[in-house]
Amino acid sequence: MQLLWVVVVGVLGVFGAEGEQALCRILGSPEFPLLSKEGDVTIGGAFSIHTKITETPLSFTETPPPLTCSSMNLQDVHFAQTMIFAIEEINNSTSLLPNISIGYRIYDSCGSTLSSMHVAMALMNGQERTVGKTCSGQSAVHAIIGASDSSSTIVMSRSTGAFQIPVISHYATCACLSNRKEFPSFFRTIPSDFYQSRALAQLVKHFGWTWVGAVRSDNDYGNNGMATFVEAAGLEGVCIEYSEAILWNSPREQIARVVEVIGRASSRVVVAFVTQWEMDVLLEEALAQNLTGLQWVGSESWITVDRLATRRRSAVLSGALGFTISKSKIPGLREFLLRVGPAQDPNNTLLREFWEVTFSCRFSPQEESDGGPSQSQCSGSERLEEINNSFTDTSELRFSNNVYKAVYAVAHSIHDLLTCTHGKGQGGNRNCSDRDSIEPGQVLRYLRDVNFTMKSGERVYFDENGDPTATYELMNWQRDQAGETVFVTVGNYDASLPNGDQFSMNRIKIAWAGNSLKVHSYTENTW
Ligand SMILES: *[C@@H]1O[C@H](CO)[C@@H](O)[C@H](O)[C@H]1NC(C)=O
Ligand SMILES: *[C@@H]1O[C@H](CO)[C@@H](O)[C@H](O)[C@H]1NC(C)=O
Ligand SMILES: *[C@@H]1O[C@H](CO)[C@@H](O)[C@H](O)[C@H]1NC(C)=O
Ligand SMILES: *[C@@H]1O[C@H](CO)[C@@H](O)[C@H](O)[C@H]1NC(C)=O
Ligand SMILES: *[C@@H]1O[C@H](CO)[C@@H](O)[C@H](O)[C@H]1NC(C)=O
Ligand SMILES: *[C@@H]1O[C@H](CO)[C@@H](O)[C@H](O)[C@H]1NC(C)=O
Ligand SMILES: *[C@@H]1O[C@H](CO)[C@@H](O)[C@H](O)[C@H]1NC(C)=O
Ligand SMILES: *[C@@H]1O[C@H](CO)[C@@H](O)[C@H](O)[C@H]1NC(C)=O
Repeated sequence: MQLLWVVVVGVLGVFGAEGEQALCRILGSPEFPLLSKEGDVTIGGAFSIHTKITETPLSFTETPPPLTCSSMNLQDVHFAQTMIFAIEEINNSTSLLPNISIGYRIYDSCGSTLSSMHVAMALMNGQERTVGKTCSGQSAVHAIIGASDSSSTIVMSRSTGAFQIPVISHYATCACLSNRKEFPSFFRTIPSDFYQSRALAQLVKHFGWTWVGAVRSDNDYGNNGMATFVEAAGLEGVCIEYSEAILWNSPREQIARVVEVIGRASSRVVVAFVTQWEMDVLLEEALAQNLTGLQWVGSESWITVDRLATRRRSAVLSGALGFTISKSKIPGLREFLLRVGPAQDPNNTLLREFWEVTFSCRFSPQEESDGGPSQSQCSGSERLEEINNSFTDTSELRFSNNVYKAVYAVAHSIHDLLTCTHGKGQGGNRNCSDRDSIEPGQVLRYLRDVNFTMKSGERVYFDENGDPTATYELMNWQRDQAGETVFVTVGNYDASLPNGDQFSMNRIKIAWAGNSLKVHSYTENTW
């Protein structure tokens, strides 16, 4: 975190001097949204549309060079489009915010804290050169959905908190974000790792694995999640043989060393509190070192990621167990996603890049002087229906359902604000608003009290820390008859139930590492 604050102060410092004469000036160069539409109210979005960023070291005497992001992440393009889908649905609704149009501004946080800082500034400033509020006194957005990782979300919430702009994350699970003093305007539609870490500890104990190894992502997600797991595991009498930390961009030698530690250790169970990006590199190194036969226990970031479960890769992870959030169905979303493409807005760079990545083609072949493999030219009429990837896949809507719920939560709070609907019996001493003078701070206050039901029947509300109730599915990696890995739900966890009743196991066979199938016995142990 210290490094982070140096960066933050750096950015503020560089531009502070320049902007001193006028208070109403921007902090960084304005970054433009990748997708946007105007409306009566505006919701901001921050997603990891790309996952790699070039961060040149900052010299504190010069304007930092623009950040460049590369390596498109189709999963987050899917999240961004799910946000737009929800906004359109509400825009079309005659009962929720009738006659009010909702606009959006979606930015790329690049999965980086530095970039997220820029995005937070851009979301607060809009395209005008102002700080916190536009010169007319209005914040550019009324709420922000994002980001897709804990570290970026922490940076964004810190930056926007002072301006009372609510941030609602669909993916940031760090228990640290439940601290209301530090993050007074933060909410999320994904449960805090406070619960997941405890559930994992009980899981490990339940199966009698009292001697385990631990690997974590060396970021807010992994470090906090693992710290809570270690504490909870200690109370359950589980001992940790080793505890290693990696990042996806760690040097290869470090990843190799960690895999050697795992291979040499005497514990046969590895608890991996890592993001899918760390799992990618860990898995490749484990394959290179022929590390198989271990029982992996994982966190929700990677436990249902198809990319990790290919035939080749599942040699390492077969039989893996871990918790994930419940899945849902969103009628109409698939049809909406299949309409996405450059035809919607031929000059939009995001849509063009999305098309090029999806169909391995180029719109402008003359730019192709980088020596890379030559690619065919995109026609723009390629068919998305024929593609199966993390953008088009709507069979397992988990995190995208959280994006969907987050947008609805914002819409309900604005609806309540405009109709003077007061929740939780706080009486009439709050201010209502008309649609031309909605302040983010008002949306924030009404967000605390939302309590509504989605079309799917799910109830959405936040506790006093901005957290939803914690329910998980216990997933197990099994092989189907064709030999492909499938994720099977073998149990459930509901943190709102009393201790002892929180777990329930389905009567379904569990596959263990090495692929032996056994029905879990109830009599040995109780949760
Ligand atoms: C919302 O509806 C209005 C009026 O029908 C339309 O002009 C606007 O483009 C819509 N906005 C979105 C985000 O769909
Ligand atoms: C909103 O309404 C428009 C016009 O009727 C329709 O084309 C569009 O598909 C609707 N969007 C959603 C998300 O329901
Ligand atoms: C919708 O908004 C317009 C413009 O503000 C207003 O004239 C009209 O009466 C509104 N209609 C409803 C049904 O509220
Ligand atoms: C990998 O491990 C398997 C099973 O332990 C063994 O049969 C195989 O020979 C090993 N391969 C290499 C390249 O070490
Ligand atoms: C797209 O960009 C070209 C060239 O910059 C411009 O001539 C054209 O009007 C733009 N089209 C749209 C739909 O904005
Ligand atoms: C995509 O997945 C569906 C369902 O799993 C399958 O029927 C279809 O053949 C796949 N399409 C391609 C192009 O792989
Ligand atoms: C209501 O608005 C007034 C004036 O803008 C303000 O002083 C007061 O604090 C607000 N009350 C609440 C509960 O937000
Ligand atoms: C939400 O509303 C439902 C139904 O009105 C109610 O039973 C429940 O207690 C409410 N939950 C909270 C946290 O207010």
